[in-house]
Amino acid sequence: HFFQKGRPDFSGKKIVITAGPTREKIDPVRYITNHSTGKMGYAIAEEAVKTGADVILISGPVSLKAPTGVKPIYVESAEEMYQAVLSEYEEADIVIKTAAVADYRPKVSFDYKVKKQPGEQQIELERTKDILLELGRIKQNQILIGFAAETDHIAEYAQKKLLKKNADMIVANNVKTEGAGFGTDTNIVTLFKRDGTFIELPIMTKHAVAAKILDEASLLLRDETK
Ligand code: CTP
Ligand code: CA
Repeated sequence: HFFQKGRPDFSGKKIVITAGPTREKIDPVRYITNHSTGKMGYAIAEEAVKTGADVILISGPVSLKAPTGVKPIYVESAEEMYQAVLSEYEEADIVIKTAAVADYRPKVSFDYKVKKQPGEQQIELERTKDILLELGRIKQNQILIGFAAETDHIAEYAQKKLLKKNADMIVANNVKTEGAGFGTDTNIVTLFKRDGTFIELPIMTKHAVAAKILDEASLLLRDETK
């Protein structure tokens, strides 16, 4: 059994984590994506296994190996991620949406390689589904935790996302700060909660941030079931 002392005991609970970027196809050799190595989401999954929970890791394309003990579901596009998350949602106790989902996808994608032409090229884009917003709309007892990667006005944007998406907590970071960006082993985050309070964490390893997020999730879950 994976349960360790000093961590929340989530045995019998189901935690769904999304990680990595999504990939929106232009043609078989080209796509639109976001910066994300998946490190933060995979760290949460690894820490979550240690709490005794059933851990489902829904991952976009990354070069990391799924931690031992998690059930990985591999997806590419935002639409595939949406379908995968939705199929796990009803039974989930905690959902942590670390993934850097593409906000737009090409309106048309081609099954053959489009040949380059002289001059400029335009690609018409359409919005993808906002997965977290959808989950917030149909939320029952799940604890819903989102992320917000910002470059400015961190607190303002994070609090807006918290309310708009009906999340229970938003983990925000400034991607321009050294030690908090993409691909690093550390992160500097602030946790924004629905009661208006926030917890500003110092620079920490992504694993320590993951453990802290799970601690907070256990408090939120306790409040939920009170
Ligand atoms: N998210 C999502 N589906 C999307 C876009 C975002 O589920 N199509 C989730 C992310 O996984 C994250 C949270 O929403 O947990 C916030 O993502 P972010 O990109 O910071 O916010 P957006 O609402 O997309 O707004 P913007 O990119 O304009 O800041
Ligand atoms: Ca976005």
